[in-house]
Amino acid sequence: MWFTSDNASGAAPEIMAAVARANDGYARSYGADALMDKVRDQLRDLFEAPEAAVFLVTTGTVANALSLALLTPPWGAVFCHTHAHIAEDECGAPEFYTSGAKLVLVGGAQGRMEPEALEAAILRARGAGVHGVQPGAVSITNVTEAGTVHSVAEVAALAAVAKAHGLPVHLDGARFANALVATGATAAEMTWKAGVDVLSFGGTKNGCLGVEAVVIFDPAKAWEFELRRKRAGHLMSKHRYLSAQMTAYLEDGLWLKLAAHANAMGARLARGLAQMPEADLVHPVEANILFPEWSEGTHARLEAAGAMYYPYPAPMGRERARLVASWSTTEADVDSFLAALRG
Ligand SMILES: Cc1ncc(COP(=O)(O)O)c(C=O)c1O
Repeated sequence: MWFTSDNASGAAPEIMAAVARANDGYARSYGADALMDKVRDQLRDLFEAPEAAVFLVTTGTVANALSLALLTPPWGAVFCHTHAHIAEDECGAPEFYTSGAKLVLVGGAQGRMEPEALEAAILRARGAGVHGVQPGAVSITNVTEAGTVHSVAEVAALAAVAKAHGLPVHLDGARFANALVATGATAAEMTWKAGVDVLSFGGTKNGCLGVEAVVIFDPAKAWEFELRRKRAGHLMSKHRYLSAQMTAYLEDGLWLKLAAHANAMGARLARGLAQMPEADLVHPVEANILFPEWSEGTHARLEAAGAMYYPYPAPMGRERARLVASWSTTEADVDSFLAALRG
């Protein structure tokens, strides 16, 4: 009954087997390995973007922070949702790697920025003249921190506001696979066709050992990213182990299969919770993350039964929980949890 996060799960057997295979013999270092050539081809095919630049890093935080550093000057404003991971959970890495750009928080229900609020925030920054940070970039998250999913149209609407002001768009896709499965969109539709310039493409939360790709749709920015990654100390010398994970992840649609399973387990949990009047879901369940609220007594009962999840403080005497299903969550895990909840 582990629902703390999708990174509490191990790595999928296919990923581990690929890492073990890559361990044979010798390979070029620092991203010049033959497997990386394959990864680049796979991602270019997947995104229908033959010129895209592709880089691998080990964490979502550095994927986001280096992507933003590529898109905004140090005096820039990066517009993102109030609860964006870059704002709340990255210890200032985006500010650090951008050499001091400022995150400007934009409100919106269910984890999604309101396009009107984004427009207003950009205009406010513009109006500050030399005294304020200058509009630099927009960062969207999909799946959102509320567990909701932006449709392609919603990404496009936010990107349109950004583009109207000449701003580039970053997409934090730590759970990009879950978002694609939920919407049925293609990778291209959800990104460059909707106006996304740089994508953090997650792997770790969805069954990899530890790898994220940065996909840059304007190849002119490739060399700068290469230098930024090295300067940040994030160019792996034994890079083949990152490439091996990513190539296995993309092979035969494994990444979508794993995400479809995680989303299905999220839906199974949601169906079970819907039958229990004492468990209110705070946000609609659209992928693999749920935010139910229940009493302190229920928390205690679940804890005693061995259920693992993060409690979230919630207003009005209710306690919020965050439950995350993953590629390795079983139907039995979900059913045991629901049984413990029923008491
Ligand atoms: C939406 C989102 N973006 C980025 C990250 C960062 O990933 P990492 O913990 O690998 O730095 C996370 C991890 O929780 C996340 O949920």
